[in-house]
Amino acid sequence: MSENINGIFSSIANVYDFMGHLFSLGIDGIWRKIVAGEAMVEKTDYKILDVATGTGSIAIDIAEKAKRVKKQVEIVAVDFNEDMLNIARNKIKRKRIANICVKIEDAMRLDEPCCSYDVVTAGFLLRNIDDTEVFAEELKRILKKGGKFILLEMGKPQNEISKIFFEIYFFIIRFLGSIINKNAYNWLTYSIMAFDRNEMLNILAGKGFRDLKIKNLPFHVGFVITGIK
Ligand SMILES: C[S@@+](CC[C@H](N)C(=O)[O-])C[C@H]1O[C@@H](n2cnc3c(N)ncnc32)[C@H](O)[C@@H]1O
Repeated sequence: MSENINGIFSSIANVYDFMGHLFSLGIDGIWRKIVAGEAMVEKTDYKILDVATGTGSIAIDIAEKAKRVKKQVEIVAVDFNEDMLNIARNKIKRKRIANICVKIEDAMRLDEPCCSYDVVTAGFLLRNIDDTEVFAEELKRILKKGGKFILLEMGKPQNEISKIFFEIYFFIIRFLGSIINKNAYNWLTYSIMAFDRNEMLNILAGKGFRDLKIKNLPFHVGFVITGIK
């Protein structure tokens, strides 16, 4: 599956940010800022890994937020798709952000040392990765003891009204998305409707993380899972 996913993101890398804002009516930006807020932990000088950084939006939001609240953060932003990372590199350069290091890495086999990060974030990775269980293991391996993870994702709507709403809305997205890339927008809507947030929570609990919390975002499709190693 990861080859297909890689192909999908290569084919939409140039329009990814624009289409994301358009189809979410700008709400995706608010969600990423929630992640950046969660990434501001009590320390003042620490290391953050943004996994599946894509075009780098979460890493950039974190860097900008940290600057505002006067925290020294060193951010490493990784993804396995070079085309998405090229967009990230350009954005980071344009914004003259010096504390983000961009690297190509697979979330299932991170090239990062054990117990090396205070915070790990991942936006919209869980639906796209081959094995969430393997990723949860990696999360546990690279976080320091007491380190925090923040996972932003979209999944099955949580009530009947939002389910009906999203079935209609996703039909429109598939229709409009097919003008650009049918595969990509079919996958987007299918994977959201199939993803079970409680199953993910159970996987993380099974790995021994504590203080697990799930925050459902307005409209009950987006959510953030946080936890501590
Ligand atoms: C929907 S995008 C999210 C990008 C970004 N986090 C954001 O908030 O927009 C999903 C990203 O996950 C990446 N991805 C999927 N599977 C991966 C894996 N096994 N290792 C690294 N990146 C992966 C894709 O290349 C893509 O850039």
